[in-house]
Amino acid sequence: MVAGRHMEALEETIAGRHDIHAVTVDVNDRNQIGAFTVRMIAKHPELNVLINDAGIMRREELTSKRDLDEAEQTIAINLLAPIRLTNELISHLISQPDATIVNVSSGLAFVPMSSTPTYNTTKAAIHSYTVSLREQLKGKVEVIELAPPAVQTEFIPGQSTREGYMPLGAFIDETMMLFLQQSTPREILVQRVCFLRWAERNGNFDKAVEMLGTH
Ligand SMILES: NC(=O)c1ccc[n+]([C@@H]2O[C@H](COP(=O)([O-])OP(=O)(O)OC[C@H]3O[C@@H](n4cnc5c(N)ncnc54)[C@H](OP(=O)(O)O)[C@@H]3O)[C@@H](O)[C@H]2O)c1
Repeated sequence: MVAGRHMEALEETIAGRHDIHAVTVDVNDRNQIGAFTVRMIAKHPELNVLINDAGIMRREELTSKRDLDEAEQTIAINLLAPIRLTNELISHLISQPDATIVNVSSGLAFVPMSSTPTYNTTKAAIHSYTVSLREQLKGKVEVIELAPPAVQTEFIPGQSTREGYMPLGAFIDETMMLFLQQSTPREILVQRVCFLRWAERNGNFDKAVEMLGTH
């Protein structure tokens, strides 16, 4: 099952694949989330994996007063939606064999890019939330964090051809290899993201903040 707001994009994703279904939901709308999860469990009672992937990223200028609509939407989609979806599905997931939750964070959870402060904050928060979730669900549901580096998708318009960003195919291949490891790592980290993930531990934090500041 893949979900998002635009059926056209979802249909493109599932085209030619077996046994994948597309369904629309806007996770920015808290009222849709409850109804959506009830429908999903009724239709797919064997559902045992939740991947919290939906996200948006906006540039923000903090030096003068502004409308906070986009910042609040970023928090709702990137942070509140995974918390809400997990909450709605948790009793069901605990009742299923081999249940897993995957939360998609970002390298920017570990080193902020100064032009996208609210985005970085939601990703740092989802990292922290995932650590607690993993502890509380130990032995019941596996909890994995997937922290991508900058990847060539249309996350920001034009990004899919941006030089220096990781090609999508290479990212998927390396990510799937990590998932296929005998014991799945609690954090899925392709090589490219390790500089950010371990910047603080390795004494590179200030250098990394400065480097990202030029993006
Ligand atoms: N690409 C990167 O460089 C990068 C780096 C680090 C982390 N990430 C993370 O990876 C995840 C996926 O990003 P991506 O690169 O694959 O970009 P993407 O292609 O734009 O994917 C974002 C997805 O989120 C969905 N979405 C956005 N708002 C939604 C809403 N209100 N309700 C339901 N679905 C919603 C979008 O579908 P609709 O628009 O159809 O709703 C889209 O499928 C995000 O969490 C992002 O933060 C990406």
